[in-house]
Amino acid sequence: MSLLRLENVTKQFGGLVAVNNVSFEIKEGEFLGIVGTNGSGKTTLFNVINGVFFPEQGRVFFNDMDITRTPSYKRAPLGIGRTFQIPRPFASATVRENIAVGAMFGTMGKQLNVDQSLEVADHVIERMGLGKHRLKSAGLLTPVEKKLMEIGRALAMRPRLLLMDEAMAGMHPNDIDDMVEMIISIGKEENIAIVAMVEHIMRAVVGMAEKLIVLDQGEKIVDAPTDEALADSRVVDAYLGKSGETKDA
Ligand SMILES: Nc1ncnc2c1ncn2[C@@H]1O[C@H](COP(=O)(O)OP(=O)(O)O)[C@@H](O)[C@H]1O
Ligand SMILES: [Mg+2]
Repeated sequence: MSLLRLENVTKQFGGLVAVNNVSFEIKEGEFLGIVGTNGSGKTTLFNVINGVFFPEQGRVFFNDMDITRTPSYKRAPLGIGRTFQIPRPFASATVRENIAVGAMFGTMGKQLNVDQSLEVADHVIERMGLGKHRLKSAGLLTPVEKKLMEIGRALAMRPRLLLMDEAMAGMHPNDIDDMVEMIISIGKEENIAIVAMVEHIMRAVVGMAEKLIVLDQGEKIVDAPTDEALADSRVVDAYLGKSGETKDA
């Protein structure tokens, strides 16, 4: 059974078709990379999955339940966690408190009191190696540390599906590798499916994804196991012909 399934999803903004008839599925615990150039529809697709937008056409299923028109705030408790492309921490609160907020809005939200949420945060902080920042104000973190905290907040939701939109953009390749490796190993341990959406074929995402989907102007042009996707001439043309980090992907 699939964890998340999209069937023929179309999302338009006025006359612009941002996501065009896209279908795919992801299984429990799977790591899926969605790649596409700027404007190809990744963030819009992400927002259809987390309920920020409802599609004009098509259906979204989570655990076989139709969530096409389920509001965003009801999806987190179902197990859909997310990071934000631009992290928005509570700057004056500590890292621990920021991560605890994730626990409160996640799958265990209603069952947890504040102390229990802080305990979940401590577990995540330890697992992510953020111990030395635990009681720091979030506003004092470096951009990389903020991104880690943001991912920690999403993990504290105890999601079944974790959506990451460019969570690693702008980071040093070595930091990206480390972070992706850590997220994937937590995902495997806790059976969390991960969808990472990235503009460039990032070495870490591509190297570790089980499956790649390529979006081009809102359409899904490739959906295949990573090896096959990377051998596809459309992927090669779109990405691997370019210079930079894509070369060693
Ligand atoms: N809220 C919006 N209103 C109008 N157009 C939008 C909106 N969000 C995205 N778009 C347009 O939809 C297309 C896909 O954008 P987006 O999903 O952000 O792509 P990506 O994340 O792959 O860069 C682009 O042409 C973009 O300008
Ligand atoms: Mg985007």
